[in-house]
Amino acid sequence: MRPRILPPEGVHQGDLILVNPRHPYHPAPRADLVPVAGSGVLLERRAAQALEGLMAAIGDGWRAIVPVSGWRAQAEQQAIWDGSLQENGLAFTRTYVARPGCSEHQTGLAIDLGLNQGEVDFLCPAFPYEGLCQTFRQTMAQYGWVQRYPAGKEAVTGIGHEPWHFRYVGRPHALRMAARGFATLEEYLPWLAGFPWAAGGLRDAFGRVGFLPQGTAAVEVPETGTWTLSGNNVDGFFLTEWGDDHG
Ligand code: DAL
Ligand code: ZN
Repeated sequence: MRPRILPPEGVHQGDLILVNPRHPYHPAPRADLVPVAGSGVLLERRAAQALEGLMAAIGDGWRAIVPVSGWRAQAEQQAIWDGSLQENGLAFTRTYVARPGCSEHQTGLAIDLGLNQGEVDFLCPAFPYEGLCQTFRQTMAQYGWVQRYPAGKEAVTGIGHEPWHFRYVGRPHALRMAARGFATLEEYLPWLAGFPWAAGGLRDAFGRVGFLPQGTAAVEVPETGTWTLSGNNVDGFFLTEWGDDHG
């Protein structure tokens, strides 16, 4: 076993942070943002690498899909909110733009993608449930991605149905969410927190994971396997086991 320190600010960092109207993003210095597909769109490095793998796996996804919006600074989210409010009104803006400070885009773990068919709408790009875009959806969990705002879950997420917005959570979690039928992080993460690390955590086909409450100073991590630690942005941490090909 190797000891691993859990810094208090780590509750607000990592692949599994829940960012929504009730749980704002806690900004941290960023040195890990990289361009996606040679564009000006930025993502956190792990998310960008997983996305590149996914795009390659579906047969050069970038031939027809464009990155529309990735990481946003608080000021950019504010400008998008203000611009949409003026152009589209409050009802539309509340449905499709997160309040500044509460956008997943501020994490660098979310991206809007659009089917390149001439005009690509910045706020609501086309990403149909057919063709290459649907192949992307059918493959994404293998690469750690989930569709974050599904139809029918508007009251749970606080955001309208967004076929174009995807969030990186890491492969074990994306696969587990798909297999167990969790459509949102609002539902998955509290369920997962019901498996304390101290009681052995959860072991299933996707590996082992356990919850550590905020205030835990350190944890003993097994020597074997690859383990990642993430805050939940609420009240603790998840320690996650990956298979051999962590990426
Ligand atoms: N469109 C999503 C909800 C955002 O603005 O973060
Ligand atoms: Zn988005």
